[in-house]
Amino acid sequence: MTPGTPGTPLTVSGYVFGRDCVPLSGVLPDFWQADHAGAYDMAGYTFRGHQFTGATGAFTLRTIVPGLYPGRTRHIHVKAQAPGEPVLTTQLCFPGEPRNSTDALFDPALLMNVRAAGGGRQGTFDFVLDVEGGPTDPPTDPPTDPPTDPPSGSWAPGHPYAAGDRVTYGGAGYRCLRAHTSMTGWEPPGVPALWRRA
Ligand SMILES: [Fe+2]
Repeated sequence: MTPGTPGTPLTVSGYVFGRDCVPLSGVLPDFWQADHAGAYDMAGYTFRGHQFTGATGAFTLRTIVPGLYPGRTRHIHVKAQAPGEPVLTTQLCFPGEPRNSTDALFDPALLMNVRAAGGGRQGTFDFVLDVEGGPTDPPTDPPTDPPTDPPSGSWAPGHPYAAGDRVTYGGAGYRCLRAHTSMTGWEPPGVPALWRRA
C-alpha cells in the first residue's frame, strides 16, 4: 500500500499452525491482491508483499479491501511456506459477498472472519500448513548486523538483497525477485517466492 491509496482500510491478522496446531514461526506468507477498482499491478509491487511470522506464529497484513473484477468474487491471494517445506497457494475470501455463490474457485474454508472497525474492516484467518509442528529451526528474527559483503557472488544469510540481484548457490545462479534480508533456512533453491533460477 502506498500513501493516499484509495480504498477501504483492511487489516487481516491471524496465526499459522502446523498439523499439531503448534504455532509456526518463520513462515513466509506472500500476499497479492487487486486494488480498489479490481486491477492488479502487473508492473510493480503495489498490493504485493510478504512477511515472516514471529515467534507466536502471528501475521498482520495491512491493506485495503480488494475490488471486484469480472468472473471472480472478492479475494486476496496468498502463498504460505514454512522453511524448507512445500508452498501452499491459496486465497482468502470475504463473507457475505454475492459472488461467493457463483465463483467456482470459492471455498467456504477460505472465508475470513470480517467485521467493521474504525471506518475500515478487520479480518482474521488462521492457516494450518501440512507440516510437522513445533518451533521451526533456524530462528526467525531477521538479522540486524549490517551487511559486510556486496549483494552479489555467493548467496549468504543476513544480507539485504534487492530485486534483480544475482547470486550463486550450490553452483547454480539465481535472480532475486523481491527485496528481502536473507536468512538461513531460506536458501534460494527452496524459496520460489524470493528467488528464481537465472
Ligand atoms: Fe485474483
